Amino acid sequence: MLAERNRYVPASEIRKIFNMIIDRPDVLDMTLGVPDFDTPDHIKQAAKDAIDQGFTRYTHNAGYMDVREAFVDKLRRDNQIDADPASEIMMTAGGMGALVLANLVLVNPGDEVLYPDPGFVSHFAHARLAQGDPVVVPLKKENGFGMVAADIEERITENTKLLVLNSPNNPTGGVTSNKEIKRIADLCLEHDIYVLCDEAYEKFIYVDEKPLFVGSIPEMKDRTVSIFSLSKTYAMTGWRIGACVGPSDIIGAMVKLQEHILAMPTSIAQKAAKAAVSGPQDCVDAMISTFRKRRDLITRGLSAIEGIEVNPPGGAFYVFPDVSAYGIKSYDLVLKILEETGVVTVHGSAFGDHGEGFLRLCYAVSTERIEEALSRLDRYLPTLLK
Ligand SMILES: Cc1ncc(COP(=O)(O)O)c(C=O)c1O
Repeated sequence: MLAERNRYVPASEIRKIFNMIIDRPDVLDMTLGVPDFDTPDHIKQAAKDAIDQGFTRYTHNAGYMDVREAFVDKLRRDNQIDADPASEIMMTAGGMGALVLANLVLVNPGDEVLYPDPGFVSHFAHARLAQGDPVVVPLKKENGFGMVAADIEERITENTKLLVLNSPNNPTGGVTSNKEIKRIADLCLEHDIYVLCDEAYEKFIYVDEKPLFVGSIPEMKDRTVSIFSLSKTYAMTGWRIGACVGPSDIIGAMVKLQEHILAMPTSIAQKAAKAAVSGPQDCVDAMISTFRKRRDLITRGLSAIEGIEVNPPGGAFYVFPDVSAYGIKSYDLVLKILEETGVVTVHGSAFGDHGEGFLRLCYAVSTERIEEALSRLDRYLPTLLK
């Protein structure tokens, strides 16, 4: 009795692993991308104030104007993107709320959507929901898992409508260089392709190059939709708040659709988001510097394990080691590691075919947990080579 679209949107493979361990407090969980920090106090306080001050009713479908204005300031300051608060920005239920709406308003049945593989699982699902045809752009280990324009160019057809960019990338931590971003922008202009920039990890950068945001390139402004999330940057995954900036015709269509789907994101979370983007940013700096240390720790530890090959990821809070030397499918390896060591990882193939041969470990967990996981993996994995 279920409608056809249920069949072609797959269930998340990450959740499959996560659900397996839900009642197992004994395991060392490195699966979900949730920072282990708490939402900063001044953001929580802004939410409490919002309740007390009566910001508890429906808002504009694009979000409160003062919240949008605060986000416009943030975009100018951090991303060099200019936006009109009245027509070019909307508040959404997390980055996810924006990603799905953007696909629904841009993609027609049969349109091809280029997306990164390995990549965030919902990019594929959203293109399918919009009845588009997802087309994989492989991210390669030898390119540090950054996207490369030549790999996109090979896959462009007359049906290509949209390109999804995600740098830093989930699950690999790969960062696309500014040189490639410029080449990709040129390709999109030449072939009339729209760009959906998933900036969920915009702040989690450990390379020296300051990122170039596609939405800040003047010629790209009328074909770029950029998606921002408060989830990771301010440890607000449960608040479900994000924002989306783009040309007024696209944002207008998304706001109209949002009205019919969830009306708007929660009023209280919107006010908290305003406090997050316009308040002190030292909480973000402290979190990033902790993640940088953990990244170094986990990369060093993993590369010392016989059979593993890994380079330090340029961003996000995931590491994506090559485990192909063990000769076991990544899903089976995850199960073996869980059974033998109690460390919970995610199989690379959960993020697309090009993820086979890799594992994802999230290091947004305590240093103690990382150290314990490394020592258990070091004791077990080399035995698979004997
Ligand atoms: C690449 C990427 N985009 C978007 C999201 C969605 O984030 P949220 O909806 O919590 O803002 C995630 C969450 O893990 C992600 O990894």
